[in-house]
Amino acid sequence: MANTETRKIDRLNTESDRRVEERADELTRSETQFKMRARLLDIASEAIIVRDMNGLISFWNAGAEKTYGWTREDAIGRNIHQFLQTTFPVPHEQVEKELGEKRFWHGRLTQSKRNGERIILDCRKTMNDENDAVLEVNRDITTVIKAEEMLRASEKLAAMGRVAGIIAHEINNPLAAITNIFYLLRNHPLLSDEPRALVERAEQELDRVSHITRQTLSFYRESKQPIMIFMPELLDDVLELQQRLLRESKITVRRIYQSTAPVTGYPSELRQVFMNLVGNAIQAMAEGGTLGVFVRESTDWTKNQRGTIVSVIDTGMGIQPEDAQRLFQPFFSTKSTKGTGLGLWISQGIVQKYDGRITCRTIRGKGGNVTCFRVFLPGIGALDRAHHVENDTASHEVNAPAAH
Ligand SMILES: Nc1ncnc2c1ncn2[C@@H]1O[C@H](COP(=O)(O)OP(=O)(O)OP(=O)(O)O)[C@@H](O)[C@H]1O
Ligand SMILES: [Mg+2]
Repeated sequence: MANTETRKIDRLNTESDRRVEERADELTRSETQFKMRARLLDIASEAIIVRDMNGLISFWNAGAEKTYGWTREDAIGRNIHQFLQTTFPVPHEQVEKELGEKRFWHGRLTQSKRNGERIILDCRKTMNDENDAVLEVNRDITTVIKAEEMLRASEKLAAMGRVAGIIAHEINNPLAAITNIFYLLRNHPLLSDEPRALVERAEQELDRVSHITRQTLSFYRESKQPIMIFMPELLDDVLELQQRLLRESKITVRRIYQSTAPVTGYPSELRQVFMNLVGNAIQAMAEGGTLGVFVRESTDWTKNQRGTIVSVIDTGMGIQPEDAQRLFQPFFSTKSTKGTGLGLWISQGIVQKYDGRITCRTIRGKGGNVTCFRVFLPGIGALDRAHHVENDTASHEVNAPAAH
């Protein structure tokens, strides 16, 4: 009897040991599975976040750490929308309502990273079965959106380039005729010295127009070789051409030329840049003022390059902070019918071709505003390098307009 009892107890013991083992196995398996799932969630490049109905974060994967720059420890327990400074495309209440009704929401959000940078995210929110937590899967699509914007802008520019090409082509024929007429006029026996000098000036200007049309037609490519340009000479030419307007607007000119180092390039292109800058400065000083034109040598430390800085400074109305980012965009103008908004855009295109940069800022003081447009032109720039290696593969850096 005792033996039978002992055997029974032994059997029960063995059975319970087996069950414990099985349960332990199961636990290990589910723990492994759990860890595997957590690892899978970590492998995902998307930010995966779980938060409760009060917005408090309870899960934050490695993708979220990478996307936002905040660690798991930083994030757990924080209110998601305050923490990430979320901006919704529609009122937040509407998002929560849709989430409650459909248990799912999909849209685009703007949130902040740890370093303060604002990013655009494709967001999918799903409510759990118990209605007490929301799973959010967010993908950073900022670069995609920016690339799309740039593509749209470049398509716009390409279309504009085509239109400019057609116009330049149409201008070319009458221009050739006018140039010939002026040539005949200059050599006309009845012409006295004074009108002849005027005709010569007009011919020089016509030359400039021809150059601009050629340049537009060939998309800023010219067949002739670049030459050495001395900025003081070129700037004096520009100021000379603007003499009448400067006088009429009662503008005093101050020139300080501290560098004689040459820049290599095409004079008509650089003349175009400074005609635009000086023209803008004059237009900004309708009530008179002072125009400063300064030239000095300098180093662009971002590229470790020696070069020349030309500053065109005016005491006019100044640039509004909200306009500062848009000045260099094509067709941006605050001059209603008086401006096409192409001057700075074209100037920036030319300066970038020289591997240079153009920046601007307005300093507002008690005595009035001072606006400075600065052009840096490298001593050995893109043109020289292209010329030296006899190909045109010099890289171009896009110089964003200076912060205001
Ligand atoms: N020196 C300046 N002071 C104040 N605002 C300026 C100055 N230079 C440029 N701006 C602003 O930048 C805008 C764009 O200048 P941009 O030269 O490209 O075009 P625009 O002068 O309006 O037209 P245009 O094509 O005839 O040159 C101007 O409309 C003006 O608002
Ligand atoms: Mg202009």
